[in-house]
Amino acid sequence: MKNILVAEDDRSLRDGLVQSMSRSGYKVQVAQTGKDALEKIEKQVFDLVIAGHRVGGADGLEILRKARSTNAGTLVIVTGENGSGAVEAMKSGAFDYLQKPLSLEAFEMKIQRAMEHQRLVVRLSSMTEPLADPSDRYGLVGNSSSMREIFKVIDKVAASNATVLIQGETGTGKERVAEAIHRNSPRHDAAFVRMNCASLPDNLLESELFGHEKGAFTGADQMRIGRFEMANDGTLFLDEVGNMSANTQAKVLRAIQNQEFERLGGSRTIKVDVRIIAATNINLEAAIKDGKFREDLYYRLNVVNTMVPPLRERVEDIVPLAEYFLKRFARELRRRVAGFSAEAVRRLQEYRWPGNVRELENTIERAVLMCEGDSIRPVDLTLLDREHTLGMTPALAVDLLNLEALEKTALLEALKRSNWIQKEAAKLLGVSSRVMNYKVHKHGITHDRWSKNRN
Ligand SMILES: Nc1ncnc2c1ncn2[C@@H]1O[C@H](COP(=O)(O)OP(=O)(O)OP(=O)(O)O)[C@@H](O)[C@H]1O
Ligand SMILES: [Mg+2]
Repeated sequence: MKNILVAEDDRSLRDGLVQSMSRSGYKVQVAQTGKDALEKIEKQVFDLVIAGHRVGGADGLEILRKARSTNAGTLVIVTGENGSGAVEAMKSGAFDYLQKPLSLEAFEMKIQRAMEHQRLVVRLSSMTEPLADPSDRYGLVGNSSSMREIFKVIDKVAASNATVLIQGETGTGKERVAEAIHRNSPRHDAAFVRMNCASLPDNLLESELFGHEKGAFTGADQMRIGRFEMANDGTLFLDEVGNMSANTQAKVLRAIQNQEFERLGGSRTIKVDVRIIAATNINLEAAIKDGKFREDLYYRLNVVNTMVPPLRERVEDIVPLAEYFLKRFARELRRRVAGFSAEAVRRLQEYRWPGNVRELENTIERAVLMCEGDSIRPVDLTLLDREHTLGMTPALAVDLLNLEALEKTALLEALKRSNWIQKEAAKLLGVSSRVMNYKVHKHGITHDRWSKNRN
């Protein structure tokens, strides 16, 4: 539900707005004073803020700036009399400036327009990176027979609500496949919500999945909705589903089976309509035998099963993928690199790719950065020597993957230190905002302060 804050000094306009917008299904909150507005903006994410030019104690511009700097996705409409502050407001990033007196109907139309605008922006921003080629329905590069099999599965299951279990080694593209199913499904306008089930300890994971009521535990000073609720009408992607505790597995099973659950610390049953896609890189059948995974949950998840093979088993996908990444990084990093030398291609094809497509992606990123001429040569590829490649030990493979983890740790650290303002974090790391934004997306880093829908 869209969250709106009304900080409007004109009482009758304010009451009218609250009534009509609540009726249209928006969640509306009112700030009586400027201070109240600033505090609310600090604590919650709003999709839209309506700021009167003169609200008790602060002016509309202050509210506007606060809202824009706290969450770039928030739209702000400023109202005022005889155009005072209009230019300033538009300069400071207001979506619109409305001059009073203004009829309620006219105001409502402006709000509708703002909401429509926001919906489009969210859709566009979630589409730009992965779907580099808009003619590609799946957003997946590769034409090997196993990829074509996967496309067939996507086509077959997208339209239904069937739960899909995607298996495969790390970095093979499981999440991409899940996204492709969502994008091609009737749910594509609603959210695709990810949850990595291995990333959090038990109690935190449950609170992430199901949300919690105010006061559910120490520190829960506000009600929070969980991923099941966020994914309502859309798709919930449960990543690394093999790593949940028995207790959480039981709750997840019920939520999937009955499409209902309670928030932590709450008694009200919440109904949702969520499609589940799960992924795992461990062998669930073995986990069942070891008593670590519930068999009934497995059958629930495993209605449709698909396996994304490791890259070394679909060598014909390596060059198309490498070329796709080359184009993307050349654009992203503003480098003129046109292609690969013949020897470089051979190296790419012979390497075993223990980290699969993700490792290839990182290798090409580094190569584009290192490359001095107009094509990538073997020296630009930081692969292990050919002799080592075939019999590569798992420890070495892990080292390569750790480069990724290091980068993510650095990003998180910088973001934390700069209070989750991406621009500031970019400065700390000495990269451009563009690169920062791109990296944040790449690692799937999200934060409450950023636009909710974008994650
Ligand atoms: N077929 C593909 N076409 C284009 N990009 C791909 C493809 N497969 C994977 N990628 C890219 O490779 C990276 C790893 O993919 P993804 O995150 O989907 O893998 P995963 O199987 O979920 O990995 P993990 O098990 O580590 O979570 C991502 O950046 C993704 O965009
Ligand atoms: Mg994944």
